[in-house]
This record gives sequence, structure tokens and C-alpha cells, in this order.
Amino acid sequence: MNAQALLTQLYDTPETDILEQINTLKAELGDQVLILGHHYQREEVFAFADVTGDSLKLSQQAAATDAPHIIFCGVHFMAETADILTADHQVVLLPDLAAGCSMADMADDEQVVRCWNELATIINPDECVTPVTYINSTAALKSFCGEHGGIVCTSGNAQKTLEWSWSNREKILFFPDQHLGENTAVAMGVPDSDMIIWDPFLPMGGNTAEAIEQAKLILWKGFCSVHQLFKPEHAETMRRNHTGIEVLAHPECSRNVCEISDFVGSTEMIIKHVSEAEPGQSFAIATELNLVNRLRIQFPDKPIWFLSPMVCMCSTMFRTDPQHLCAALISIRDGHISNRIQVPHEQKRWAKLALERMLNIA
Ligand code: 13P
Ligand code: SF4
Repeated sequence: MNAQALLTQLYDTPETDILEQINTLKAELGDQVLILGHHYQREEVFAFADVTGDSLKLSQQAAATDAPHIIFCGVHFMAETADILTADHQVVLLPDLAAGCSMADMADDEQVVRCWNELATIINPDECVTPVTYINSTAALKSFCGEHGGIVCTSGNAQKTLEWSWSNREKILFFPDQHLGENTAVAMGVPDSDMIIWDPFLPMGGNTAEAIEQAKLILWKGFCSVHQLFKPEHAETMRRNHTGIEVLAHPECSRNVCEISDFVGSTEMIIKHVSEAEPGQSFAIATELNLVNRLRIQFPDKPIWFLSPMVCMCSTMFRTDPQHLCAALISIRDGHISNRIQVPHEQKRWAKLALERMLNIA
């Protein structure tokens, strides 16, 4: 049966049977498969993950495992990262190939190479600019960073990465997320006058030669469509209505939200912060809905609110459902792997170097 026909059949099966089948397949395959689950996955899928975590933890796990098959319940760039960090004989599967990341799509290699060439008309980027890519990016961009003395970062290690980068070269080109770069730099005390925004749709990113010469941090104009929905007024309303509430934000939120928050950190750091708080402490959290709902259930003694009155959910993370996970497990059992993620060899070498630089300082 081909992959599409299998999925159609699984969608015609009651969900309780699918969940039972996943359990049976997991037991049958044992050490043959490792399931990694990002915190934004829906509950029915998250429950089957052998390891859960933020992008940093999951990439560390991918680098450490010797499992022959890795099913990545997350989005495309995460599965690519796992493929880069694992040996050639290990197979990485993404249950739904359409699970992408709109932020990762905001910088492609053609645009970044054009930016680098435009910078080269004013400065020598290979001497004075460290390219830093957020892990939410294509393998091609990780490869670009590896080849040009750069590095990958996650929301869990951005400060260390920026410190490393500035210790090597005087300027940083940070892509694709403006906010993670800006929020990290602000927390490090970098003044606004040292930062410029690079708009990939404008010549010279919309900057003058003088501004480029003076800048220490060049921030790509990209963002997460989920986290940009949180606003500072949401935090103000929460504080007005709930005395003593703490506002927690992911650094993909805009600067005005992070500046007004009590704590800013990656998904793993947010979970740790909540788990270590005293019973009774209340929180308003600005990150993806599935994680916030899980925290609510996990910590019933700590009142937890979603910061925004709107639903901020990552629709691509949501694409991975039990049917797709079940289909991935069946494909492994039957030896007809579908949805394999394989980064081209020529990209893998440099991308791995950029990731290893990050893992070494993480
Ligand atoms: P972290 O889990 O690394 O904080 O990343 C959040 C995110 O948006 C992943 O796409
Ligand atoms: Fe991409 Fe944002 Fe979804 Fe994370 S939450 S996968 S950054 S769109």
C-alpha cells in the first residue's frame, strides 16, 4: 500500500484504535526507533515521545542517539537538524512533510548570499561578520554559516552564541528571527545604536553604507507568526486583573512584550521556571498554546493563563497527528520508509560544523 492510501485507511479507523496501534508498534520496534517530540506538539502525539524538549535539547539528543530510526514530531528544520547530526545509516522521518516553519521560510540561501555580497561592497564580511542562524532555518543556511565561520543558535543558548560570535568578529549577521537576536542583545546591554534591521526585499537591506559600517548587529527582518500575536497590552491586562501574576515570554515575542515580561526564555526554560515556583504563584505565558495548556494540567496548584485573548497556535506543529505518527511507525516496521528527511551531502558537512560549534558552547 502506498503512503497516501495508508493514511486514508488510518483516517477511516477510530482514533482509539490508532493510539493502541502506536503503542503496539512502539513495543514491537523497541530500540529500532526513537521518537523525539517538541513541546508544541499536540497532546495525543506528545504522549508517545521517548524524549521531549526544546530545540536545543532535541538537537543534543539527536547528536547522542544511536537509534537506527528517529521520528521527529516537530517541524521540518528540526528533522533536518537531526539528519545532519546523525550518522549516514540512521534514518530520520518527519511524520508529515508539510510541517514547515513560516519563520524559517523568511530567509532563503539566495537572499542571504545576496545580503553577504551587498555587505561585501562596503566591508569584508568574511573578516568582520559572523553569520548566526537561528536553528529555525533551512539546512542550506546552516551550511552557509558553517562555511563562513558562523554558528547556529537556539532560544536556549542565544546569549552564549552571540558572545562567541563577537569574540571572533566585530559584527554579527543574525537570521531569520529579528526578535530573538534583538531581545538577546538588549538583555546583554547592547545599545540600539549598534543594531540595524536588514530587510531582504530592499537594496542594502534598506540601510546606508554608514549605518552598515557602524552596526555591530545586523538583524534579519523575520518573525514567528505565532509569537508576534502577543502584545504588551495583554500583559498589562493580566497584571491589572491578577495581583502578583508573573508574565513569562518566549524570546520570539517582540521586544516590547519581552521588555514588559518578568522572565524570558526558551520553552524548556519556561517549563523549568514554572516547575520551580512556589505553589500558588500564578503565570501568564506568551508562547504556543499546546505547551501552555500542558503546563496548566501539569501544575494545577499554579494558576496559569495564556497571555493573549486570541488563540496563538502553531498550525504546522499541529499537522503531526496520531495518524501520521502511526503511518511513520508502520513504514519502519514494513521496511518501506516514507517521509525520510535527507540533507544533501554537500550541505551536511558545513551545516554540521555550524551545529557542532553551537553544541560545543551550549
Ligand atoms: P524552543 O523550543 O527552542 O524554545 O523553540 C520554540 C520554537 O518556536 C520552535 O519552533
Ligand atoms: Fe516556526 Fe513559530 Fe511554529 Fe516555531 S512556533 S515552528 S517559529 S512558526
